[in-house]
Amino acid sequence: MSARGTGVTGPEVLEPRHIAIIMDGNGRWAARKGLSPSAGHKAGVERIRDLIEACKERGVEVLTLFAFSSENWQRPPKEVELLMTLFHSYLRREARRMQEQGVELRVIGRRDRFSPRLQRAIAEAEALTRGGVNGTLVIAADYGGQWDIAQAARMLAQEVASGERSVDSIDETALAERVLLADLPPVDLLIRSSGEQRISNFILWQAAYSEFYFTETLWPDFGVAELDDAIAAFRQRDRRYGGRSEDGLEAQA
Ligand code: IPE
Ligand code: IPE
Ligand code: MG
Repeated sequence: MSARGTGVTGPEVLEPRHIAIIMDGNGRWAARKGLSPSAGHKAGVERIRDLIEACKERGVEVLTLFAFSSENWQRPPKEVELLMTLFHSYLRREARRMQEQGVELRVIGRRDRFSPRLQRAIAEAEALTRGGVNGTLVIAADYGGQWDIAQAARMLAQEVASGERSVDSIDETALAERVLLADLPPVDLLIRSSGEQRISNFILWQAAYSEFYFTETLWPDFGVAELDDAIAAFRQRDRRYGGRSEDGLEAQA
């Protein structure tokens, strides 16, 4: 049992610096109320503001939200359109607030499949909030973990082709430096709402040693109390990274 498990809470109590969330369950939330998925997406967006504030208060440096996967284009066109409209209005409405809070916004994903108008709104929101020192909000939109790794591999291939580096120099570090989020603290805690227990092509590389937390709660019902439950569960985890915890099994070895 770890030191934490024995109830001895020293100064080393684990606090997440980076939390990522797969915001899932909007459709089921709406269906249970006899509403269309759109109503669920609208309600889901409303949860974000309080969570940003809560993360700031709890010293979480980065909050990464999975908003739209590269596979979500397969949804019915009307639903995709609504999601794009919601994303656009969210950026328009919330960027100023984030700037005031000192929260830097970053959008990760492909971008080129978004309308020029949405691409502009993303660029403007990022420019407005740039340099915020109280935390970072990352929105993953048209993001796929496999795409992310492929684009890192493509960058390395280009460097080899141009003679900047050798094939032998390609290793985990080289790739890790080229996937998205590389300049931010590692994802400590990855939460998924709605009871699904899969990664759905989210941060495949970056989640190598993230702690996972699954909750049955549907995203539009996910509030600050749920966030605190997830953080409390995280504090109980014994992160070993393949090694042994201090008071682990050495004595029996
Ligand atoms: C998550 O909610 C939001 C997006 C994927 C954009 P869903 O729309 O996937 O909700 P369920 O899974 O159908 O309940
Ligand atoms: C993952 O949810 C993507 C987002 C939450 C943005 P999905 O609802 O698209 O995932 P699957 O289809 O259940 O795996
Ligand atoms: Mg879903």
